[in-house]
Amino acid sequence: MQSREQWGSRLGFVLAAAGSAVGLGNIWKFPYMAGQNGGGAFLIIYLALVFTIGLSVMLAEFAIGRAAQRNPIGAFAVLKGKMWPIVGFMGVLAGFIILSFYSVVAGWTVAYIVKMASGALVGDADTLGAAFGGFISDPVEPILYHAFFMALTVAVVLGGVHGGIERACKILMPMLFVLLIVLIGRAVTLPGAEKGLEFFLSPDFSKVTAETFNGALSQAFFSLSIGMGAMITYGSYLNKKENLAKSAVWVSALDSAVAVLAGLLILPAVFAFGFDPAAGPGLTFITLPAVFAQMPGGIFFGILFFLLLTVAALTSAVSLLQPIVAYFTDEKGWNAKVTAVVFGFVIFALGVPSSLSLGIWSDFHIIGEKGFLDSMDYIASNIMLPVGGILISLFVGWAVAGKMQSEVTNEGEKPFPLFGAWLFICRFIAPIAVAWILISGL
Ligand code: PHE
Repeated sequence: MQSREQWGSRLGFVLAAAGSAVGLGNIWKFPYMAGQNGGGAFLIIYLALVFTIGLSVMLAEFAIGRAAQRNPIGAFAVLKGKMWPIVGFMGVLAGFIILSFYSVVAGWTVAYIVKMASGALVGDADTLGAAFGGFISDPVEPILYHAFFMALTVAVVLGGVHGGIERACKILMPMLFVLLIVLIGRAVTLPGAEKGLEFFLSPDFSKVTAETFNGALSQAFFSLSIGMGAMITYGSYLNKKENLAKSAVWVSALDSAVAVLAGLLILPAVFAFGFDPAAGPGLTFITLPAVFAQMPGGIFFGILFFLLLTVAALTSAVSLLQPIVAYFTDEKGWNAKVTAVVFGFVIFALGVPSSLSLGIWSDFHIIGEKGFLDSMDYIASNIMLPVGGILISLFVGWAVAGKMQSEVTNEGEKPFPLFGAWLFICRFIAPIAVAWILISGL
């Protein structure tokens, strides 16, 4: 086997992992989920889950990846064997499925940069809603943007772990923070923005139901990129000197920070213009353009916003493709570049029915009333990621617990006082809590 590529520095690794975590999940999904689930109360529950279960599973993935220095499937095989590699297989498959529809939605964000710039997005929420509906149901245009986004993703992965992914994240992540801050500066100074801030920051626990917890936990998994092996893969390019627990805290904190910042950006703007915070998935593509249309300099801020969303999606998309590339290069000896291109095409093809399911194929249902895209999302995000998370926790908590202390402490060099608590969460809390969510979700 050739020597394995490694991250250039700890900062590079943390930014790449944060790049994976920060994506459409934070900026598109989190604000509308918070908007639908009572604002501040959802935020508090979400953060509590991220910093207990989410953080623990992330650390478990880093530890598995670094201990094995392999792709998710190979990692389970190296560390324990038996049936465990199936967990890795399911993860790689989940990445495959998620990327196919993720790229479709990311393609919309690219399209919205162009539409913003060309002045096509004007009018009230109704007009913009019709424009959005017309665009995503078109049989050709969104597929072209999906192809473009997949090509971008493949291009970054072609550059390799250090030269492609790490370098892209090192440039794009700071850019994302700057863009966010600029946009928030605008949003919170809009007249009437205080109502949005209050909604988002002062919790109203009377709106909390079992569903709130359910939504917050699946959101935490998706947003932290855990449960499918993206973080195992990224951990596998780490050297034995980096502090895993600290890195996991950094990545979780950055991911949560961006979710909170996205809430601070979108909810004040929505309230300032009197829109409904519970508008759902359309909040970003319909409500926000309506806000931009009424705002001085709106076109400029609109372009910036969709650029930001594209950047965030790109650094996540590469982490969905890389586990597949790592698997075929580690285990089958394939050339990394060929693998990236081949699977780029395959995943693009799988995304096509997702895109068409919003238009000409909308009558074609897979799970219940759900079309192709919603079914793929449901299978991967609501079933495969949580099941993966349970199995990863059990693996670390029971199957390889003996190897984990030396792994997370770098052979005792970096003390980890919370080791016992972490193991306890992996053994009991995470599997039970996630299983509960999974069952109550079904
Ligand atoms: N975390 C990414 C987001 O929030 C999505 C993702 C999920 C990426 C799973 C990799 C693995 O958009």
